Amino acid sequence: KLCQKADLQAQRLFASSAVSSSAKEVKRAVLDDTSEHKKSFCAIQEERRERALRSVLISCPPKFNEKKFLDYISKHGDITNHFFYQSYGTNAVVEFTSRDSIAALKRSCTIPSVQHEAAVPFKSRLLSLKGNVSQSSSLNTVRCCEHSPIPVSELLQKLSRQESVDEQLRCLTEAYQLSEEDISLRFLVCSLLGDIAAAYFPECIIRPFGSTVNSFGKLGCDLDMFLDLDGVSGQKQSKGSGLSIEYQMKSVTSDRTVTQSILSVIGECVDKFGPGCVGVQKILSARCPLVRFAHQPSGFQCDLTANNRVAIKSSELLFVYGRLDERVRHVVFAVRCWARVHSITSSIPGAWITNFSLTVLVLFFFQRRVPAILPTLDQLRDLAGPSDKCIIEGNDCTIVSDLSKIKLEKNTDTLEKLLQEFFEFYGNFAFNRNSINIRRGKEQNKPEAAPLHIQNPFETSLNISKNVNATQLERFVALCRESAWLFQEGEVIKRGALQSGDLIPPWGLAALLLPSVAESAGVKGRRKKKREPASARIRTLLESL
Ligand code: CTP
Ligand code: MG
Repeated sequence: KLCQKADLQAQRLFASSAVSSSAKEVKRAVLDDTSEHKKSFCAIQEERRERALRSVLISCPPKFNEKKFLDYISKHGDITNHFFYQSYGTNAVVEFTSRDSIAALKRSCTIPSVQHEAAVPFKSRLLSLKGNVSQSSSLNTVRCCEHSPIPVSELLQKLSRQESVDEQLRCLTEAYQLSEEDISLRFLVCSLLGDIAAAYFPECIIRPFGSTVNSFGKLGCDLDMFLDLDGVSGQKQSKGSGLSIEYQMKSVTSDRTVTQSILSVIGECVDKFGPGCVGVQKILSARCPLVRFAHQPSGFQCDLTANNRVAIKSSELLFVYGRLDERVRHVVFAVRCWARVHSITSSIPGAWITNFSLTVLVLFFFQRRVPAILPTLDQLRDLAGPSDKCIIEGNDCTIVSDLSKIKLEKNTDTLEKLLQEFFEFYGNFAFNRNSINIRRGKEQNKPEAAPLHIQNPFETSLNISKNVNATQLERFVALCRESAWLFQEGEVIKRGALQSGDLIPPWGLAALLLPSVAESAGVKGRRKKKREPASARIRTLLESL
């Protein structure tokens, strides 16, 4: 029945897209008009990068006098912004109004005296607050901003206290999304790394990509970084007198070899000289070579890549989709969280579906709604202006940057309906035959035999879920079906009454995040197992909680 429904939707969508084949004709825009909302992805990133250049990261003792600390720091220049967070102790990010203040502050810093060891004399913007802080008359514990997500048990209670499933999805996004402070810290870590890479490439920029900037990042997610050397290697020959002077440069066999050797030396520098950088691994033979390490002062797991411009563009694409309709981010956060608690995704690399793939699955589902909630990638390309043109390694990565040009259709589906139908859609999707294609907004015949085929939006010959094996896909489908069933059952969607204390039985989204019957019985065993009534199941699960 669900398959028929999906087919019917597909036919309707096809009919409607045949009528309005050009993105310019898509009907109504529902875009927020605030000036913050109008800023392009690149403008936002550039602003954050510039602020990071004016910032320092200071490790502080557990208790100290905040006012005294700020007074001391501001002797070197005006402070625009500051915040505290916890990671291996209390840390402060201080943003000055001018970069000159950092130079002034650094001039007053002393070299640490270490016993039995020797300090590597690399003077970075990572500092420590020292002195007679413990003897100060009025010590206080500073207010720290959220830096890691709340535990799932706490989240379940928070969700259960909401009045509707729609509110639950909004509450989940609110609880999990990266805070402004966390994003600032991520840009600062990139900037600190940039100072190290500048030893070899003074003009390089280290830019964050992936979930740090695509608007789907969850507190505690990894920090994907890209070493941008375009300022060094991307300059065009100047026209004019006919004469020009070029750099003499060493040449090697391929771009990949260049990337590998750059990452190798930068990785070495990070390992040997980078304060706070530990566990450096060079993974240079991967399809996309990278250096992985932990940045202790921020608590971030970092992946540094180079020559990975397409990934920045796909981050921008996801950001654009997240901005077009607020429901996109809410459903993506819910699906990512659901997948994580059911171990469909994992922080360990392997045959699991990744968060990136899950996000594309949600985008595709939104494109397939009737009326469509999101435009196709081809439509975004068609709306692009001349300055948006972007070809990377032969791939057309052009998308419109002025979001006000995008006209959206009127679709009033609730978050509850969307989440339920997401599970129905993928619980019945013909993964054996079809590939997910957000460029066209339509499923395509699978070009290769991989169990799950999701076309890379920009490098269209690649499958972003090539790593996923049949077992993992089967688990995803089984859990989609179970969650769709829980929705249809109705009972889990109803809010229960307050129980003893402040406890409300997990319901709605919270019920979907509870351990799965299918998982505990094994996917195959589940078919034979007779289900308990939903009310009994919730009671058992609640007791186990
Ligand atoms: N990427 C890609 N193709 C893949 C995997 C990743 O193009 N097969 C790009 C995407 O732009 C993705 C980014 O690399 O956003 C970072 O990948 P990853 O860290 O796996 O995903 P995130 O979106 O950052 O999500 P997470 O929160 O799990 O880190
Ligand atoms: Mg990531």
